[in-house]
Amino acid sequence: MKIHGQLRRSIEADHSKQTAQIIDQTLLPHHVEWRELSTLEDAAEAIKVMRVRGAPLIGATAAYGMFFGLRADASDAGLHQAYDVLHATRPTAVNLRWALDRMKRTVEPLSPEKRAEAAWEEALAICEEDVKTNHAIGRHALELFREIQARKSDPDAPLNVMTHCNAGWLATVDWGTAISPIYQAHDAGLKVHVWVSETRPRGQGASLTAFELKEHGVPYTLIVDNNAGHLLQRGLVDVVIVGTDRVTAHGDVANKIGTYLKALAAKAHDVPFYVATPVSTIDWTIADGVRDIPIEQRSSREVTHMPGLTDQGNREEVLITPEGTQARNDGFDVTPAALVTALVTEHGAYPATAAALQELQAKL
Ligand code: MRU
Repeated sequence: MKIHGQLRRSIEADHSKQTAQIIDQTLLPHHVEWRELSTLEDAAEAIKVMRVRGAPLIGATAAYGMFFGLRADASDAGLHQAYDVLHATRPTAVNLRWALDRMKRTVEPLSPEKRAEAAWEEALAICEEDVKTNHAIGRHALELFREIQARKSDPDAPLNVMTHCNAGWLATVDWGTAISPIYQAHDAGLKVHVWVSETRPRGQGASLTAFELKEHGVPYTLIVDNNAGHLLQRGLVDVVIVGTDRVTAHGDVANKIGTYLKALAAKAHDVPFYVATPVSTIDWTIADGVRDIPIEQRSSREVTHMPGLTDQGNREEVLITPEGTQARNDGFDVTPAALVTALVTEHGAYPATAAALQELQAKL
C-alpha cells in the first residue's frame, strides 16, 4: 500500500541483515517512523506495546520473532523459550498461536544448525501468503459490495460502508482484511464512502483507519463509536464489514470492543454485517466464543486518559475523569454467529455456521 506516496508493507524484511522493519503504529498518524526488529525481545515488545497490532500482523511479527530467537539459540530449549515469550504477548488474536505453531512445525524436526535459516524462509512465506490471502478476501467481499450497490435505489450514490477498529493494511502485511474490498472497490471506480468509528480507547479507527483511507484517497467520515446505531437506524449505512481476531468453529467472532453493538444494530435494521477473516484466524479447537475466547484485559489508564500531541509535537496523555476513577477495559467482545451475515475468507464467503465451516475446513 502507499504511504506518503511510496509502496510499502507494514512489515518488511531486510534480507542483508535478516531483520524486520515495522512502522511504529503507536506514533501514527502524526509520525511515520520505521523501526528495526532484530531480536526475540524486540519482536515481543513490539507486539506487547502495540507498535504492531491487528491479528495477521501480530502473527507475521511473531514469525520473525521465532527466527530471531532461533538465530540466538537454535536448541530445543531456545525454540520453546521463543515460542513461550511470544505466545505470552497478547491473548486474543489466534493468528499469534497459528504462526508460532507453523514455525515450530517447520523447524522442530530439523537439526539445530538448520533451524534459523528455515525459520527465516518460513517467516517470509507467511508474509507473502498474507498479502495474497488479503487480496483474495477483498476480491470476494467486493462481489458482495457490488450486489448491495446494485440493489440501491440510487445506484449512483456511493456505497456507505461502516467499519470498526483497524482491519486495513496496518493490521496485516498488506491490503488488510475488512478494508481490502474497500481499496479494491475504490480502485475499480465503485463509489465508496466509509464510516470510520474512532474505536475508543486506543483509537485505531481515528488514528489508523482514517490514516490509511486518507493516504489512499478513499472518502471517509469519522464518527464516535456511539454514533453507529443512529446511522444504521437512519438508513445511512449499506453494509458493515469488520475484521476479527478469532472465529470459532461455530462462527462466533471476537473483534475489537464495540463490534458486538454494531452487529446488534445492523441486525435490527436489516443491514448486512460481514466479517472478513483469513482461515488463519479460525480457531478450529473451540465452538462457543463467549465461553472460550480469551478476552484481553487492558490498562484502565487507556480509558481514564486521552492521548494527544502538544504544540511542540510531543505525546501527552490528559486525565478525563476524577482522580482515582476505576475503569474496566476489555479489549475485545464476541459477536455470536447468528448476527453475522457471512464470513468472507480467502476461499469465498461462508455462512457463519458450524456446517459451513466444516465444509470449508474439509477443503483446506
Ligand atoms: O487491539 P488491536 O488493535 O490489535 O485489535 C485489532 C482488531 O481488533 C482488528 O479488527 C482485528 O485484529 C482484525 S485485523 C485484520
